[in-house]
Amino acid sequence: MAPQTTYSTHALPCPQTSGSPPADFASIAQRYATLRLEALLTSPKAFASSHAIESTFTLEEWAACIWKDDRVVLVCVAHPASQDAEGAEGSPLTGDWVGSAILRGPLSARDYALPPEGGAPPVGMDDVETKWQMTAVFASAAHRGRGIGKMLIQAGKDYALKQTANPRAGLRVMIHPDNLVVLSLYSATGFVDAGRTTGKEAYRTNGDISSWALKLKSLTEEEKVYWSTARVAVVLEWLGQTRTQLD
Ligand SMILES: CC(C)(COP(=O)(O)OP(=O)(O)OC[C@H]1O[C@@H](n2cnc3c(N)ncnc32)[C@H](O)[C@@H]1OP(=O)(O)O)[C@@H](O)C(=O)NCCC(=O)NCCS
Repeated sequence: MAPQTTYSTHALPCPQTSGSPPADFASIAQRYATLRLEALLTSPKAFASSHAIESTFTLEEWAACIWKDDRVVLVCVAHPASQDAEGAEGSPLTGDWVGSAILRGPLSARDYALPPEGGAPPVGMDDVETKWQMTAVFASAAHRGRGIGKMLIQAGKDYALKQTANPRAGLRVMIHPDNLVVLSLYSATGFVDAGRTTGKEAYRTNGDISSWALKLKSLTEEEKVYWSTARVAVVLEWLGQTRTQLD
């Protein structure tokens, strides 16, 4: 990799920000597919889905993964330092896509709530707090340790704060207890302990319920019980105040 690379993060077009997909949406979907398949191939344990499943997706299915009412896909673009973040052809998405994350929401208090036995704090009312779940953060292996993970999280916070008229916006993440890098990443970016949850609840609140159905098929009876009842996934949460509140 060229020694001088700069990075920028961007929210891909989605129903929350655009009336209709842009003219180049097929190309955006293709580029997202390439990055997502790289993530599934190189970090198979980190995601609910798998390369085997998603490598069968058609371009229309990839487009539908991005153009969904309940989420925004964030990407990180690498630019040679000689270019600014607008890219060589004047588009901020021009450059190598080297990181991504999904922000799911806004979620209602009802959908966001977790069983109290996991130690989750009370959920803010829908007219006070806008709630999101962040998932699938990924940085390409060759670009790790350069702040992409932190930039994607900051992009998620910025997006959540921009999209709400409420005084507060909250982001939550659920992490496998063995993924120490991700635990450290979110802790370093202001997320605090918000309890423990089960694998099943993590799949549900991440919006991966179809992956959960597939996951179940691969488990033994004992493992099914473990994934459904053992509260081992670490829940971390960040709450931010909107500009209106700060003024
Ligand atoms: C997690 C991941 C996105 C981090 O991306 P990254 O761009 O390398 O992260 P950053 O450079 O922004 O690092 C930010 C923080 O993460 C933590 N971190 C990153 N790499 C780390 C490592 N190898 N060991 C320990 N902590 C690490 C540190 O707290 C770091 O802060 P610091 O630089 O101030 O020490 C990347 O490692 C990845 O894609 N992993 C595989 C996918 C995955 O597990 N996703 C999680 C799905 S829930």
